[in-house]
Amino acid sequence: SWQPSHFIQEAVERIQQQAPSGQVICALSGGVDSAVAALLAHQAIVERLTCIFVDNGLLRRGEAEQVSRTFRDHFQIELITVDAAEEFLAALAGVTDPEQKRKIIGEKFIRIFEREARNLDDAAYLVQGTLYPDVIESTAPDRNVAVKIKTHHNVGGLPDDMKLKVIEPLRMLFKDEVRAAGLALGLPEDWVWRHPFPGPGLAVRLLGAISFERLETLRHADAIFLEELRAAGLYRATQQAFAVLLPVQSVGVMGDYRTYADTIAIRAVSTEDFMTADWARLPYELLAKVSSRIVNEVTGVNRVVYDISSKPPATIEWE
Ligand code: XMP
Repeated sequence: SWQPSHFIQEAVERIQQQAPSGQVICALSGGVDSAVAALLAHQAIVERLTCIFVDNGLLRRGEAEQVSRTFRDHFQIELITVDAAEEFLAALAGVTDPEQKRKIIGEKFIRIFEREARNLDDAAYLVQGTLYPDVIESTAPDRNVAVKIKTHHNVGGLPDDMKLKVIEPLRMLFKDEVRAAGLALGLPEDWVWRHPFPGPGLAVRLLGAISFERLETLRHADAIFLEELRAAGLYRATQQAFAVLLPVQSVGVMGDYRTYADTIAIRAVSTEDFMTADWARLPYELLAKVSSRIVNEVTGVNRVVYDISSKPPATIEWE
């Protein structure tokens, strides 16, 4: 049977053979796959590894801090955090079409990554957290229509002229094996069980044009939802859970005043493979608490709705 310790030992040796000398870089996304790939590379080549984390301004609350706390402080891994929020928001100004948002974000990410790689003189290798299912999906894109509906920029997005040799230590692994390897490598439990977060981030959870103010509204509502979901002990009972900011204002009443303010949609799903999904039957008590906290604590929001759509025909994300 598959043993994390055997896998780790073999993967470390393999990375040492694949990258015998020179600088190695690794793009951290905040997810479990790139984290495990980075930890393996760190064990293999220690100070020749530099991780790059791009803060695109489309992250959840506290995300950038958590990445640097875990990798720089806890694991003592060389980490470059690129603060590119303004660059991304400028490129996205006025854009409302979801595919357009994805395209702009994907391209910008590659440009920034290339720039950072060039600054790390002689970086010859790139470590990526590609899993076995990603490999299958990207070699057989017709296998599933859902893959074609949206341009996922996680896999194979980097240009050929980068001349970086790609190292993919997880390309034979399934998700549960990656989690087991992560635990064995000392990755904190709450990292190992993180829900997936899309590459385009909050840009596809904020419907309509993106602004810093609206991102802050969404971040705040999302943080409240996840905090309450965790407090209720239900984070791991769902596979993905998040808030969406709708481009809809509606009438409300606050004290003696009529309000006309934003709507937050709450989405939580249970799924095996993310190809089909059911909406999570969260307890009414939890939903009530989340709703009342959001309308009371998040400025500019007067209504919260719960998404009771399954996939198909709805997708998990709203864009
Ligand atoms: P949908 O919305 O298609 O999502 O049901 C299925 C899974 O894919 C994630 N997703 C993305 N991940 N880039 C990503 O890296 C994307 O553009 C993207 N779109 C959707 C989504 O979060 C869910 O886990």
